[in-house]
Amino acid sequence: MSHVFAAAAPPLSPPAGLPRRLLDVSAALWLALALGGQLLFAAYLVAAYLLPTLQGRLESWNLKLPKGYTPGDAWGNALVGLHLLFALLILVGGALQLLPPLRRARPALHRGIGRAYLIAAATLAVGGLLLVWTRPALGGLGQHLGISLNALLMLAFAGLAWRAARARRIEAHRAWALRLFLAVSGVWFFRLGLPLWLMWHGKPVGFDPKTFDGPFLTTLAFAQTLLPLAVFELLRAARRSARPAFHGAVALLLAALVLLTAAGLFGAFHMLWSPPL
Ligand code: HEM
Repeated sequence: MSHVFAAAAPPLSPPAGLPRRLLDVSAALWLALALGGQLLFAAYLVAAYLLPTLQGRLESWNLKLPKGYTPGDAWGNALVGLHLLFALLILVGGALQLLPPLRRARPALHRGIGRAYLIAAATLAVGGLLLVWTRPALGGLGQHLGISLNALLMLAFAGLAWRAARARRIEAHRAWALRLFLAVSGVWFFRLGLPLWLMWHGKPVGFDPKTFDGPFLTTLAFAQTLLPLAVFELLRAARRSARPAFHGAVALLLAALVLLTAAGLFGAFHMLWSPPL
């Protein structure tokens, strides 16, 4: 995962002490867990949507999405179908893109997947906005605004990552590409955050499970994008800093996030993805 750190590495790194090494190890651990967890989400997409679609059972989209497939609504069904297809592609593409061995051994492939990733991100963002604002989606206005912010940031980060790559500003390209990866992962963070909250409280708190609306879900809809980006900027700041105490504090935060992510994945698997996984 070392190239991921390069995005946050200062041009002249201070000598790496134990806290600085712990920072790198905890960031690498979190990333490995996140990539594995996103592949699990991708496997769910295959089992819940791709396989039934290939078998001509489009109505089974509705097992997880109350209004996913609506007979007669060709435009709406196509929008949902394309959304799910691009969602699958971007999850797998993101995992491939962040694997350092592949990037080093096959730079041309890295560029190819990178271009496809940017296009998929822009398509998902625009298609997602259409879904949210033209179809009756679950959740209230606050959640719609939160996911729309996510989509707009995806568009902005994709544009900035592309511009930096064209200008051969590699450090800036990596940083924008990682911000894009985190924004794209927003919906995955949401799917971890909700089960974590439910496991913590033992019952729905701060939202109505029938309407899927309430202050907790509105907060989560914004946090799914803004919190991971804030942690990323903290990591970058820690990497630039020469202060071991700062390295140690951010390493501890990341270690805690590894545990939270693992617990969130456990919850998402049991509450959202199984069955069909
Ligand atoms: C970027 C990565 C994204 C992925 C991987 C993704 C994935 C998914 C998945 C898997 C579903 C089906 C629900 C489920 O089974 O969990 C879904 C539904 C949905 N997504 Fe996304 N999504 C992404 C981005 C977005 C964005 C940016 C928006 C909005 C701006 C959005 C809006 C929606 C809506 C409204 C639905 C419900 C569709 C309906 O029934 O009408 N998604 N998405």
